[in-house]
Amino acid sequence: MKYFGIIGENEELVHNALSYLHATNIIVIKKNIISFETEFHHRLQTCASLIKWGIVLDHQTLEKKIISDTVGVADNKFGVHLKKQFNLLKRFKLVELIHTDLEIKNEGQEVVSLGENIYGLVQGYQNISLYETIDFNKPVGGMGIGMMPSKLALTLINIGVGEYEDLSSSTVQNGQLTIRDPFCGFGTTNFLANHLGYNTIGSDINTTQAKQNRKRRINKTLSQETVKSFFLKQDVTKELKSPIFRHATIIVSEGRLGNTVTSRTAPATMHMYASQVQTVYTVFAKNLTEYQKDKKPVTLIMTIPVWLKYEISISQTILEQFASLGRTARLIEQPYSREKQLVGRQILIANFL
Ligand SMILES: C[S@@+](CC[C@H](N)C(=O)[O-])C[C@H]1O[C@@H](n2cnc3c(N)ncnc32)[C@H](O)[C@@H]1O
Repeated sequence: MKYFGIIGENEELVHNALSYLHATNIIVIKKNIISFETEFHHRLQTCASLIKWGIVLDHQTLEKKIISDTVGVADNKFGVHLKKQFNLLKRFKLVELIHTDLEIKNEGQEVVSLGENIYGLVQGYQNISLYETIDFNKPVGGMGIGMMPSKLALTLINIGVGEYEDLSSSTVQNGQLTIRDPFCGFGTTNFLANHLGYNTIGSDINTTQAKQNRKRRINKTLSQETVKSFFLKQDVTKELKSPIFRHATIIVSEGRLGNTVTSRTAPATMHMYASQVQTVYTVFAKNLTEYQKDKKPVTLIMTIPVWLKYEISISQTILEQFASLGRTARLIEQPYSREKQLVGRQILIANFL
């Protein structure tokens, strides 16, 4: 089956989503629109860098699939064309390609022009089923200071699963994977990973926040009863001892961002924060290498903070440290950041074989 996707701006994230989908025959149709084939269509809904997705159809097949009397289209000319072609259509509504129109999503259908006589019928919107059950700004019911954006957690999980499959050269079922977040804080990664059907282990130097959120996390409507989550205390700069970490197949973490930064933070202070974060990451990599000796492969997906307004970079040193430990590590260079943020993040991908 041929699919199309309306994609976001970050090419590397889109590339990772396509690899997670094992997409083939990828064609860039126009700005923000691609078509591809995949056998993993059940994964489409969790690809944060696909804004919308659906099936590619010719004129006749589309005619059979139009069942509502209103369609959403991106431009007037295309709307007029559709109305002329399909008798059933009473109305079209202009919708933005990269946004979700609630009326169309709930009561209509959205059609995208993919070329002459080739149409895309939207079937899903970015993580919309998750968005409907989880407030992505408050994934565990309340937004604590330092809690990561769920969309980022979801992106990291997807990259991790795709990478791990490449590493182990097989397709793995959700139940076989255990995702560990070694800087789990409130447990956002664990919460989302459970929701997606993965077992999880959360650890942190301080487990107060994870404990605080435990009740909300186990809310039956949001978590699956079949998956398990363990939380324990562990400083990543200290030797890993608990055998429980052995169950982790993928490590997904926002990591440590450093102290809070404002526009008044002095550059010298920033350098100090950067060096603290760098030390935590590099000692963590060393301990993990030690722990993974003779154990099964583990993929690590973590973010490295980038202090956007200060041009301080620690990623190169961290990559060099990983290389000196014999680990293959690479970065998604374009920082993930939100408007008005002072700290963005680069995504680090490393494999511990
Ligand atoms: C940016 S927060 C992560 C927040 C988390 N992603 C969430 O959504 O709640 C960083 C976390 O790293 C933890 N941390 C800092 N240094 C650590 C260390 N050496 N070992 C383990 N955890 C550490 C902090 O306690 C904090 O919870």
